[in-house]
Amino acid sequence: MQVILRQIGNCVIRRCDPSDLIPVMEINMKTLPEHYSDYFYESLLSELPEAFLVAEIDGRAIGYIMCKTEYGFSNFKKLGFVKKGHMVSIAVIEQHRKKGIGKAIVEESMNGVKIKKCDEFYLEVRCSNTEGVRLYEKLGFIIRQRLKAYYRDGEDSFLMAIEFDY
Ligand SMILES: CC(C)(COP(=O)(O)OP(=O)(O)OC[C@H]1O[C@@H](n2cnc3c(N)ncnc32)[C@H](O)[C@@H]1OP(=O)(O)O)[C@@H](O)C(=O)NCCC(=O)NCCS
Repeated sequence: MQVILRQIGNCVIRRCDPSDLIPVMEINMKTLPEHYSDYFYESLLSELPEAFLVAEIDGRAIGYIMCKTEYGFSNFKKLGFVKKGHMVSIAVIEQHRKKGIGKAIVEESMNGVKIKKCDEFYLEVRCSNTEGVRLYEKLGFIIRQRLKAYYRDGEDSFLMAIEFDY
């Protein structure tokens, strides 16, 4: 049974199901230049289903977020080794943007990452992606680094991160 995490008008936020992966890949192809193999989507879904979510309207996926967990150096503490949630990809199709769906899926994935007891949550975003940067800043993410030529086309990214208190 699919559990509804949140509802915004007629949009339902719920965990991704294997049968959602094709629509998720289609949204990714339409909205972002970074694409992944089928295996990568499947592995993120089995590794961290708590933070692989879809937004659905009238039975049709219109947005997704997918994340993974990692162990590594803290983005906040000098020499700290921590468990981190990593937001790998997020998108909402253009006609459903600016309705609060992006914010809701990030917040719900944050809850998923906290279920896994991560100390921090981080992401990379193109420096030119002002909508993305603004969204993450509103949710408490802070720009911690600028990663030179992070993307294939040579653009830099901001590494943004948030630290959790339990
Ligand atoms: C980044 C992205 C996921 C944001 O999704 P979204 O659903 O539009 O996000 P939200 O609706 O929560 O917030 C976006 C804006 O809409 C505004 N908004 C939210 N609800 C609103 C409403 N009911 N009425 C009017 N505006 C609203 C928010 O305040 C926000 O405005 P701001 O940017 O001026 O602060 C989306 O733009 C996207 O898919 N972009 C392409 C892919 C991408 O860049 N992914 C991120 C890569 S790191």
